[in-house]
Amino acid sequence: MVNISCASITVTILTVYTEKMSTGTEAKVGAVLNDCDSPLAARFRALFTLRGLGTSEAIQQICTCFSDSSSLLKHELAYCLGQIQSPLALDELARVIQNENEDPMVRHEAGEAMGAIGDRSSVEILQTYTSDSKPEVAETCQLALGRLNWLLDSSNEEFSDNNPYKSIDPAPPLQDGSLEEWGALLLDTSKSLFLRYRVLFALRNQGGSDAVNYIVEGFSNSSALFKHELAYVLGQMKDPSAIPGLEEATRQK
Ligand SMILES: [Fe+2]
Repeated sequence: MVNISCASITVTILTVYTEKMSTGTEAKVGAVLNDCDSPLAARFRALFTLRGLGTSEAIQQICTCFSDSSSLLKHELAYCLGQIQSPLALDELARVIQNENEDPMVRHEAGEAMGAIGDRSSVEILQTYTSDSKPEVAETCQLALGRLNWLLDSSNEEFSDNNPYKSIDPAPPLQDGSLEEWGALLLDTSKSLFLRYRVLFALRNQGGSDAVNYIVEGFSNSSALFKHELAYVLGQMKDPSAIPGLEEATRQK
C-alpha cells in the first residue's frame, strides 16, 4: 500500500521546485508558440516542448494560443493538453467545445482532451455535446464519456495498459480476442465506436503487417473521426506497409 499523504507531499514539493526553476523557459517557448509570424514548424516544436514540461505555466502558454487563426495548430493544442492530463486545462477546453463558431476539428479535440484528462467533472459537459450537430464533435464526446465511465468503473482498476507508445488514448486496448476477431470487429459498424476504438488500439499494440492491413481496411468507413484516428495510429506504428493505404486515403475526397 502506498503512503498517499507522504507521496503527495513529495510530489507537491517537487512540482513547486520544478516550476520555480523553469518558469523562464515556459515564457520563452510560449513566446514562440504564440508568435503568429513564426513558421508553423517552429510553433509546433514549441508546443511539444511545452507538453514535455507539463507545468501550470506551460499549460497557460498553450491555452493562450487558442486565440490563433490556425485550426490545425489549435487541434494540436488541445491534443497536447489532453496528453498532459492536468485538470488545470479543463476550463479552457470547456470554453473551446462550447464555442460553436470554432472549427469542429478543434472542438472535437477539446472533447477528446477532456476524455484523456479523465476528470469526473467533465461528464456533464461531454454529455451535453454527445448530440452536437457536428458528427465529429458528437462522436468524440460519446467516446470521451465511454472512457470516463470506463475509468470510473472500479472493476477496471487492475487493468494494465500495454501501450508501447505511451500516448493517452481515447479508449483502452481490448485485451481478449484474436487478430482476425479484432479485424472483423473494427469494421463492424453495429458495434459502439468505443469498442471499435478499443480494438484499434489492440491492433496497434499487437503491430505487424496483418494488423496494419486490418487498420487500413477501416478507411472504407464513413466516419471522418474514425478515419482520422486510423491515420493517427498508423503514424504511431511507423510501419512502411501502411504507406499505400495512407496514400489512397489522402486521395479520397
Ligand atoms: Fe483529432
